Amino acid sequence: MTETEKGLKYMQLLKEAAALLDGETDMIANMANLAALIHESMGFWWTGFYIVRTGSDGEEQLVLGPFQGPIACTRITYGRGVCGSSWKRRETIIVPDVEQFTGHIACSSESRSEIVVPVFHDETVTAVLDIDSRRLNTFDETDARYLEQITRLL
Ligand code: SME
Repeated sequence: MTETEKGLKYMQLLKEAAALLDGETDMIANMANLAALIHESMGFWWTGFYIVRTGSDGEEQLVLGPFQGPIACTRITYGRGVCGSSWKRRETIIVPDVEQFTGHIACSSESRSEIVVPVFHDETVTAVLDIDSRRLNTFDETDARYLEQITRLL
């Protein structure tokens, strides 16, 4: 897929996502439908959300939310892995090769590249959108730009 084709695909996806979420305020329902829409449209290996929740120790952590794809790790500590790092840095992280990311958490041995986009409510990160690919170098600035726009719909 060329960059132009990818951009066009995401433009269509953004429109569909806006229509899909229109009128629904339940966060879990919206995350579930968004994960399915992105996953089906783009053909990724794993697409899902981790939600910031307070654990039994009183500490905030990421807990597995709605997703599409193989089973995954359920809890991720602040600052750990790509997801915990995106939460801590409050920014999108693109990982061209997961083996080169120190501390990467391998939920699936099939994952080769990854992107994680923080979801903000007001100024707070309340969740992250995590997407894995079975190919190296799948994600770039085009993915980041559109996925950031899509998460703003939540
Ligand atoms: N690889 C992620 C963990 C989540 S799975 O990819 C679904 C990470 O390093 O945070």
